[in-house]
Amino acid sequence: MKFVIATHNKGKLVEFQRLLEPMGIEAVTMEISEPEETGTTFRENAYVKAEAACRETGLPAVADDSGLCVDYLDGAPGVYSARFAQPGKRRLTILEKLQGVPVEQRGAHFVSAVCCVFPNGDRVEAEGKCFGSIAFESRGENGFGYDSIFEQEGVTFGELTAEEKDARSHRGHAFAAFEQKLRAYLGQEQGGEPTPCGLDCAQCPGRETCPGCETLGKGCMLAQCAQKSACGQCRPFAGACGLKAQLIQEFNALGVPDMPKVTDLNALLGSYINQEYPLPGGRTVKLWDDSRVYLGNQLEKQGSERCYGLAADENYLMVAEYGENGADPEIVVYKRRRR
Ligand code: IMP
Repeated sequence: MKFVIATHNKGKLVEFQRLLEPMGIEAVTMEISEPEETGTTFRENAYVKAEAACRETGLPAVADDSGLCVDYLDGAPGVYSARFAQPGKRRLTILEKLQGVPVEQRGAHFVSAVCCVFPNGDRVEAEGKCFGSIAFESRGENGFGYDSIFEQEGVTFGELTAEEKDARSHRGHAFAAFEQKLRAYLGQEQGGEPTPCGLDCAQCPGRETCPGCETLGKGCMLAQCAQKSACGQCRPFAGACGLKAQLIQEFNALGVPDMPKVTDLNALLGSYINQEYPLPGGRTVKLWDDSRVYLGNQLEKQGSERCYGLAADENYLMVAEYGENGADPEIVVYKRRRR
């Protein structure tokens, strides 16, 4: 299967190839004209680029639009990340604008929106984010763009290997979700049934014992089919039966007051847990991807009408609390897992 990658950025092309290859997709570039990025969101711009490339080449085309959003700069440079400041001075400009700004106000996140447009007009889209902060100085020679000034737990993306970056980056998250959706789409093309976990139910090894989507409906919040086939079949938790036990231990070690002991976690669809949480300064944030499967649970907060909501994947772990039907949600703990 040949897909054209709509980018002129060599760093991104290499990442696209590395991420698409396991899906059996040959990612090629071609001389294609660069459309004007007229969108106001990452998602719109990814579509503009992919649609133009598909129209010009007649091949399925994949594009991403990505960028860095800095809290202190009200989300700038955002969709203008590639056009922000003078070429060669972008990182420095951000460091200068944040000179003297304390660490607690240096929050930032990367966003990646991926879009694939097919010659018949169909599209498959996904989005990923990763949260961190702006370092006080540029560090690390790896990666590209703003990598050397974006840090998580004291390490910049410029100091990570490509594999380490994929495991935690916005593009890595977006591609994990994109892979699931693309597999579901291609399964649909072959006459199979798309499922929340991206597996074709007819091929699912858990089919005999799991009622799966047929009974639960495609929007099943517990993603039962993914849970049943999690051993080696379902990408989010591939070979990861150990992940559940490990996460249970990690949740219990947090020592959240009034939280009952965690004894089990379920596979949950992102769309079920993806609440909007308030941040200081009146902003809000969503932390999960609607289409991915996570491990989590809901527990009653002792001595209160509220509940604790637990959610995690290989990289992040969260405890939130909320009232009836998810009212007044609040993040209690959100952290990157140490492995
Ligand atoms: P575009 O997605 O081609 O519009 O470019 C977005 C710009 O955001 C890039 O030129 C980079 O400067 C920046 N950017 C996007 N993703 C990354 C990343 O993974 N690391 C560092 N910088 C990035």
